[in-house]
This record gives sequence, C-alpha cells and structure tokens, in this order.
Amino acid sequence: MINKRFWQGKKVLITGHTGFKGGWLSLWMKHLGAKVSGYSLSPITNKNFFNITKLKNIFEYDFRKNIQNMNDLSKAVKKIKPQIIFHLAAQPQVLESYNNPYNTVLSNTMGTTNILEIGRKFKFVKSIVIITTDKVYKNNERKIKFNEDDPLGGDDLYSSSKASADIITLSYLTSFYKNKKCGLAVARAGNCIGGGDWTKYRILTDCSNSFLKNKNLIIRNPKSKRPWQHVFEPLLGYIMLGEKIFKNKYKKFNGAWNFGPNVSNHVNVEQFAKILKRKMKSNSKLIVRLKKNDKREKTQLDLKSQKSKKLLGWRSFLNINQTLQLTADWYLAFKKDQNMFEVSKRQVKDFMKHNFL
Ligand SMILES: NC(=O)c1ccc[n+]([C@@H]2O[C@H](COP(=O)([O-])OP(=O)(O)OC[C@H]3O[C@@H](n4cnc5c(N)ncnc54)[C@H](O)[C@@H]3O)[C@@H](O)[C@H]2O)c1
Repeated sequence: MINKRFWQGKKVLITGHTGFKGGWLSLWMKHLGAKVSGYSLSPITNKNFFNITKLKNIFEYDFRKNIQNMNDLSKAVKKIKPQIIFHLAAQPQVLESYNNPYNTVLSNTMGTTNILEIGRKFKFVKSIVIITTDKVYKNNERKIKFNEDDPLGGDDLYSSSKASADIITLSYLTSFYKNKKCGLAVARAGNCIGGGDWTKYRILTDCSNSFLKNKNLIIRNPKSKRPWQHVFEPLLGYIMLGEKIFKNKYKKFNGAWNFGPNVSNHVNVEQFAKILKRKMKSNSKLIVRLKKNDKREKTQLDLKSQKSKKLLGWRSFLNINQTLQLTADWYLAFKKDQNMFEVSKRQVKDFMKHNFL
C-alpha cells in the first residue's frame, strides 16, 4: 500500500511540521527514507510532540516562518526544492477561531492559496496534498454521513475557512493543475488522537494532563459521541495520495478524499476517558460536570470513505482499544522519561508491520 522505494530520497516539504499531525508525518517520512523539510511557526504549547521527540534533528531545512507570507515561503521553497508538499499548517481549532477570527481566515485560506501558487510557480513540485477536515461539509446536524461530493459549508470560522481552502484547492485543480506535471489532492479527516498532542481544548490533552499526575478529570460533555481515530490512519491516506498523484500520472487520484475512522470507534467522551484511564494505569477520579448546551461546536459528523477504500486501497485498521492503547503507551513511555524519538519511531514501524504496509 505504500511503495517504500518511491519515498527513498524524495524531497518532501511538510508545512505544520512543528504541530501534532505534521510532527508524526515528518517522522514517518524520515522513516521511509525521504529528505524532509518543514515550514511552520514554532510550537505554542510548552509540552509538544516536536520538542519532546527532539524532532528538529531530522530536517534538512527547518523554517519557522508564517505561511501567510508568500515572500518568505517562496524563499524557503527555492532552497528546499521539494518534489512533494504536504500542507498541514493551519489554525486548527474551532474555539480558537472565535478568539482569533482574522488570523484563522488568513492562515487557513491565504496559507493554502500560497501553497497552490508555489505549485504553479516551481516545476520541481510534483505533488501537493492539502489537508482540510471533516468540518468542511455543510453540517445541518441531521447526522448523515458525508461523501466527497456533498456540499461544503461551515458556520464557525474554523470550518468555513477550511471549507474555503478546500474549494479554492479544487478550483486551482480545475483551472491550473489539470495538465500540469504536478498532482493536487485535498484530504479530509476528522478528530484524531495519538501520542504527543497537548493542543488546548482537546479532551486528550485534559486526559493526559490528569492521568499522568493522577489528578481529577472534569468531564463536561460525557455523552457526546465522537468517532475517534488514531493519527496514523489519516496520515497513511495522505502518504498514499502523495505517491499516487506524483507527476499527475494518474489523474483520477487528483481531487477530494475522505479518510474516516472505523464505525466501531464511536464511543462517548466518558467511555473514552474511562478506557484511557485504565490503559494509563491512573488513579485519577472522573468527575462529570454537565455544561449548558454550547452550540459553538457542531455535533460530530461522519465521513464515508468508500472512495478511498475502493480506489486507493486505504483502510482504517485500528479499533478503539488499539487506538487508545497506542496512545496510552506513548504517554506512559513519556512519563518514564524514555527516548521519545525512538518510542515514536517504533510505533510507526509497528503500525506498518502489523498492517502489511
Ligand atoms: N488534529 C486533528 O484532529 C485534526 C482533524 C482534522 C484536520 N486537522 C488538520 O490537520 C492539520 C494539522 O493539525 P494539528 O492537529 O496537527 O494542529 P497543530 O496545532 O498541532 O499544528 C498546526 C501547525 O500549523 C502551524 N501553523 C499555524 N499557523 C501557522 C502560520 N500562520 N504560519 C505557519 N505555520 C502555522 C503550527 O506552527 C503547527 O506546526 C491542520 O490543517 C488541521 O486543520 C487536524
């Protein structure tokens, strides 16, 4: 499913490499033998995957610049000369988009547009994968599953800026990339979890902070059901896409793709916390404190991933137990002060081995 020979020595640029998903993707690329470079702002949380794994060491170039700035981005790209770009740099939070709407819109729409312009400008770029989200779909809360052709929308500025980025990407594809020797795809996935995510407002951050120190965990929306997915699963989809659209040889792989989790992975927040607490061998108490219905974040939606399964051969392999076990193992190793670069690399290797990748 991944052609390891393809990735050997490929020059890859990952935007958002200092973040949770971008960090894991960078490590995976390095494991596959690619020459990885990054372009992002520096990590904003004290604890973060990038610093804890000492990831800095793997990069050919490590640019800490704003994706909104086309000049800085162009200069960086001229040095890196990437053949493949994975674009993950973004303001990725719904709640943060209420605090910083202007920055959210600029980072998510202009950042993406800048990357698309880079692909037009530089001939050495042969494939671009733009990462958006399941929140790009017009969500009227009727709990339907979305496929790639469903209408896009978004009420909050995170969702609408990502939907805009998605629409802009598809528009660039039709207008400029159809006959280029560079493929262009957009990948949509939902909330994912895994070791090393300390992003604000995420349940995993609250859980790991409590469970690592045996402190009480306050749960405010216990019955809210989410489709939990390990970060390796969407990343696998991004990697498969990056390879398939290379040089635009197989045009059917351009365009939009969903990478949703196993249906059996839907558990509510309270169940999620209970299972993770057990796996992290914690004595924390779970305290449920119901909050008034906060409509700012829409109820979770589901993705139909038949297209990815049928055409790409992508699969969602991990059930909820395996997803939480991998996550708990990472945090427990961190607690024991183990070498987190090696621990993380081993998790990627094991995931590939067990799934015959
Ligand atoms: N984590 C999830 O569950 C999830 C779900 C769906 C989609 N996504 C998407 O995946 C991508 C990565 O998300 P994440 O969870 O790793 O987020 P993260 O916050 O951990 O990482 C975001 C990255 O983007 C960089 N960044 C932000 N604004 C920037 C700017 N103006 N200029 C340059 N770099 C900037 C940050 O420095 C960081 O490297 C985002 O595009 C997000 O929308 C994430």
